[in-house]
Amino acid sequence: MWHAFRFLLLSPVLMAAIAVANEPATASATPGVSDPARSRIDYMLHCQGCHGPDGSGTRDGVVPKLEDQLAKFLTVPGGREFLVQVPGSANAALPADRLAAVLNWMVLTFDSSNVPADFSAYSADEVAKFRSTPLSDVSKVRAELIKMIEASNTGSR
Ligand code: HEC
Repeated sequence: MWHAFRFLLLSPVLMAAIAVANEPATASATPGVSDPARSRIDYMLHCQGCHGPDGSGTRDGVVPKLEDQLAKFLTVPGGREFLVQVPGSANAALPADRLAAVLNWMVLTFDSSNVPADFSAYSADEVAKFRSTPLSDVSKVRAELIKMIEASNTGSR
């Protein structure tokens, strides 16, 4: 009887310890992502339908892959704004703070190796400002940014 009772007392502590142990070690250290689990769920509910669970997009390339690409936008002028102004971001049914967190989470989850050293996390205010100025020609702006990214890649070789 006592043994069973002691187990009941201990189990919540064990459960909490297991929950903490299951969190990825880097989770709390991700800049601009106060709650990585919530950002992952926001991504799943609002973005994954098009971008795919691993950010690989669609095979036909209509939805571009995020890996080895997404964070490169942060290295060219206008790219930081673009990631917020692109319709999938700007029109998401998410308040600015949660959209900022999803974008920070996406950049670090799908393309951490290309995040510039001076990257500062998106803030809610910044996201609110950028999403209020939508792009009139998304594919044109995107193509210009890609051209700049490619030019800077060649320049550094
Ligand atoms: C209906 C499909 C769809 C949904 C849902 C969607 N996206 Fe996208 N996303 C796209 C497409 C297509 C592009 C390529 C640019 C364009 O044509 O809009 C894109 C591009 C992007 C880009 C720029 C990357 C690049 O290479 O162009 C970001 C950042 C982005 N989306 C973020 C998000 C976020 C954040 C969400 C969820 C809140 C989301 N998207 C939901 C279709 C979608």
